[in-house]
Parts: sequence; structure tokens; C-alpha cells
Amino acid sequence: MFKLTPATANSAFSPLCGTGSVLSGWFRNESAGERSGGSDDDLGYYHETVLLEEAVHFMAPARGKVLIDGTLGGGGHTEKMLEAGAVVYGVDRDPQALEYAGKRLARFGENFKPVKGNYTDSLKHMQERGVDGVDGILVDLGVSSWQFDEAERGFSFSKDGPLDMRMGDEGETAADIVNSWDEADLRKIFWEYGEEKSSRKIAARICEHRDATPFLTTTQLAESIEKWCPRNGKRIHPATKVFQALRIEVNDELGALRGLLETSAELLNPGGRLCVISFHSLEDRMVKRFLKATSAKEIDKKEWPAPKPNPEYYFNIVSRKPITAGEGEVSRNARSRSAIMRVAERVESVEI
Ligand SMILES: C[S@@+](CC[C@H](N)C(=O)[O-])C[C@H]1O[C@@H](n2cnc3c(N)ncnc32)[C@H](O)[C@@H]1O
Repeated sequence: MFKLTPATANSAFSPLCGTGSVLSGWFRNESAGERSGGSDDDLGYYHETVLLEEAVHFMAPARGKVLIDGTLGGGGHTEKMLEAGAVVYGVDRDPQALEYAGKRLARFGENFKPVKGNYTDSLKHMQERGVDGVDGILVDLGVSSWQFDEAERGFSFSKDGPLDMRMGDEGETAADIVNSWDEADLRKIFWEYGEEKSSRKIAARICEHRDATPFLTTTQLAESIEKWCPRNGKRIHPATKVFQALRIEVNDELGALRGLLETSAELLNPGGRLCVISFHSLEDRMVKRFLKATSAKEIDKKEWPAPKPNPEYYFNIVSRKPITAGEGEVSRNARSRSAIMRVAERVESVEI
């Protein structure tokens, strides 16, 4: 099984990356009344699916194929794959996503297989269901618009809610982290997952204030950060990067992706596709590195007399250039601007 070492520090985030830092842009279309995500009017809006046609094209759904959508969300990608006749295991750790998608996709009967859990455990989920291999795995990372929009979930600093940020219903909340972690650990995640330049100051101030007044709500933390690090005319809210870092930590987003990548070759049938849609450079770099290491037929070292076959050659890269949203999609859905999709195909002939 391929092993990735933990993500390294100091990764450059795109200024519009991930959920946290696109806060100002993500819902632009929605407020302009242009929401088009979610297919069933009775169910209401959930999420505007990103790179829909592109992801479905590369997943190549068809009758007789078994696919995993590891980030079911509102079921946008899954719906199209079901329409093409595939059986789709839709994994989500959020019971509310499963409830919404379950209603939306009920018409596909047994072809839609909801799975409550973490996509990182996809190999286990499939083994428990007696599935030996799948023909495609898709993950569309991050949180859904619905999760982000719900004040109660605590992802957004512009909506007053509990400082929670869990995608699922288990584990430490952002409030647990902010109110109990050591200053050095807070500083580390603010820097590594948010590239927050004021990570020292913010971590120190949090620790100074939290005993007297624990940070329990989104706005309480956001307003405090704004007080400590004034905007000085900047459009982006000073709490953006700290919120992003907390979200990544609370949900172990990088650990989940690493776990999926490391087991993907074992999960996929020969010819099966792996499609990953990332929204920030920490994720994309991990995918890129993994695919580089597992798509090389040979490995070489200066001290070797000749290159050797790569024992971890599991994939062929399907699209050399990463796939990004076209102008039309970006103008409809600002979040798609930072989406990067990488696709690889499981090679036919190696034993794992
Ligand atoms: C961006 S949304 C996916 C939207 C979906 N593709 C659509 O078209 O509606 C991401 C979803 O993945 C879920 N998610 C994120 N990380 C997860 C993980 N490690 N395991 C399971 N679900 C996860 C979130 O709860 C959220 O519902």
C-alpha cells in the first residue's frame, strides 16, 4: 500500500482557496438569485456542483459500473452518474447531507447506496458490503454550501452560531480546540493550514482571553480577531485564514485525503478512475505528489547503475493538465474558480 508522509508546512494557499477564503465570493451568485444547485425544487437549494460535466465525463458512468462518490453532499455528481445507469455508493459523514441526497436520489432505487461515514475508510466500507473493487472514485473536497450557510454548523464567521465546524456529528469542535489547545499548537495550525501571518499574535491573544471568556461562538472569535488584527482597508476578513485552519483541523481534511489516496489502488479495479477535486494547494499538492509517485513506471537514483521498475506504479495520469472550471462556470459559481481536478486511471497489470 502506498504511504504518503504528512503534508508539509508553509503551503501557499490561493487567495481564493477552500471554503474559508472564498467567503466573500462563494455566495455571490446565490444572492443574485442565480442558484442552480440541487435538482428538486421541493427540496430547496443545497449546493452548486462544481465541475459537474467534467467529473462525470472522467468517471465514465455506465450500466454495470460500480462507483464511489466519497463526498456525496447534495448528490449533484452522484445524480448524473446514476442517470447514466451506474451503481453509486454515496459516502458522507454528514447525516443531513445523506438525508437530503437520499430524497433527491430516491428515484434511482437500489442503484443509489448511501453510506454514512468518512470517505477515508472507503476500502473498509466496500469490504463490509462485499464489494471487491470499484470502477471509479470521486471526491469533491471541502464543505457544501448548505453546511457553510447554516449558522448552526459554525463554519461561517459572518453568521452567528456555535463555534463547531464539524462536517459530521463526532469529534472535537473548533471551540474545543480554541479553548483547550496549547498556544504553540494553535499557532502551528493557523500557520500550516491557514498561512496566517499573524498566527503568533492570534494564538497568544486567544490564550490570554479564553480563561476569563471562552470562545463559544463564531462571531465572538471573528470579532476578537478583527480587533487584534484590524482590516486596514483589506476586503478579506481578518478571521478568514484562522477559520479555514480550524475547519481543516476539526475535520482532519488532509488526513482523510491521505487515507483515501493510500488505499485507492487497492479499491479500484484495473482501468478504474480516481478523480479528485481540490480547492486549496495543500490538498492539490498532496494529490499531485501521490500521482507523480504512483504513475512513474521506473524509479531511479544517482547511485544506481540503472533505473528499476517502480513497485508502486499503480496509475496512469489521464489528463496531464489539471482540469479547471471554464469561464461560464466561474461566472455562475465563484467557488469553482479555485477548483482543480486531477484524474488518474488504475493500471491493468500490477499486483498490490
Ligand atoms: C463540496 S461538498 C460535495 C458536493 C457534491 N459533490 C454535490 O454535487 O452536491 C462536500 C461534502 O463532502 C462531505 N465530506 C467532506 N469530507 C468528508 C469526509 N472525509 N468523509 C465523508 N464526507 C466528507 C461534506 O460533509 C460535504 O457534504
